Amino acid sequence: MFNSDVYVRRRKELCRRMGKGLILLPGNSESPMSYEANAFDFRQDSTFLYYFGLDVPSLAGVIDAESGETTLYGNDTTLDDLIWTGPTPSMQERAATSGVTDTKPLPHLDTRIAEAVKAGRKVHYLPPYRGETSLLLSRLLGTPATALFEGISTDLLFAVAEMREKKEACELEEMDLAFFIGYAMQTVAMKMCRAGMSENELIGTLDGIPKISGGWGVAFPSIITQHGETLHHLQGRDILEDGRLLLVDVGGERASHYCSDHTRTYPVNGRFTQRQKEIYNIVLEAHDRVPQILRPGMLYTELHRSAELVLAEGLRGTGLVKCSAEDAVEAGVISGLFMPHGLSHGMGLDVHDCQALGERSFDFSPFAERAAASGTCIHRKTWRLNEGTVMSDEPGIYFIPALIDKCRAEGRFKGLVDYDLLETYKDFGGIRIEDDIVVTSDGCRIVGGERHIPVTVEELEAVVGQD
Ligand code: GLY
Ligand code: MN
Repeated sequence: MFNSDVYVRRRKELCRRMGKGLILLPGNSESPMSYEANAFDFRQDSTFLYYFGLDVPSLAGVIDAESGETTLYGNDTTLDDLIWTGPTPSMQERAATSGVTDTKPLPHLDTRIAEAVKAGRKVHYLPPYRGETSLLLSRLLGTPATALFEGISTDLLFAVAEMREKKEACELEEMDLAFFIGYAMQTVAMKMCRAGMSENELIGTLDGIPKISGGWGVAFPSIITQHGETLHHLQGRDILEDGRLLLVDVGGERASHYCSDHTRTYPVNGRFTQRQKEIYNIVLEAHDRVPQILRPGMLYTELHRSAELVLAEGLRGTGLVKCSAEDAVEAGVISGLFMPHGLSHGMGLDVHDCQALGERSFDFSPFAERAAASGTCIHRKTWRLNEGTVMSDEPGIYFIPALIDKCRAEGRFKGLVDYDLLETYKDFGGIRIEDDIVVTSDGCRIVGGERHIPVTVEELEAVVGQD
């Protein structure tokens, strides 16, 4: 948690942006795994963390945008809690660390919101992404859970996204430190990797690293697979085989929850075949192109297109693409066949920062115009990469048999792609290379500073399997 001044300043800025109404920011509650007292690891809501910093369940903040008054709702520890989970600071003590003086028991939240609604005050809330929060909002606002999306506050959504998107110096320090969790996860995997070992063995080892280093845990379920062609392959049951490629897409969260996200792909036996090296170096060129051209004010789509052009040009060199790189990108050969995912996503308190606020969480199209003016990562099509934005750089090339078959059968990209040659790549897998980047006042820098995770063919061959 940062100093309380940070949260006081952020809440004040939020009020300035909002001007009117009550801002309701519920934290997350415990999420039971199999029965109430057997919960998943508690993960606080990132927007609540951003404005209050308090990493405990069942709190809610209410900020009066007109007066600036802030109340923190939550219950003090009961004797039962003391017996089962031990002593904790009082609500007053907790609130003080966030610069809040007014605290009330959680049940008082119902009356506060009911009175505000009755008085015709606007209650601003964000789109809920957890069932428990939907139920809470539904009860507080007297709205069926299925109708909550219609009432979300777009003003609040944009204010929060704009603030969270531009990282402050203290946040960038945390991101730089999160890099080292990612560094450890990736280099441990490289050194351990050898034929005969199970993917699960790697997953089990890597998943412990964020905690060992004092962090919270993994930032997302670790993707450690020889099926790199499946973008988020989570099964992790296979035995590593000589000659195959292993894709490792992992990240860790610090105790503060600022996180890392890195991907490396390399041969299980530590030696690239000619074909693996050829495809790898195309992806690496696209990955390296991003920091070379990224400047503040640039549109994400420009960056995306540049990376696609590098991939298309490289694939032309292999004979898989038969037309010019421009024609291939224009026709959707890269986005439709070889890299069916985005080049980047925001990074911060969430591995896909602010994604709960927009884009995939609900139909964002009604807000597209406003999103273009705002330029935050809540809508990647209109995302403007300004100073303080932190993002992933993760191009890839994937040979997805089902997608190849479908495109071929439908006659898509006919004359642009050599499908006969492509057939011979169906057992190749997929390659993704990912690092995290921060946009600076005059360009960008890789999160983590000078140190980098082995990434060239030579660097990887020198470390994979070298315990
Ligand atoms: N690292 C997983 C993702 O970016 O979706
Ligand atoms: Mn990523």
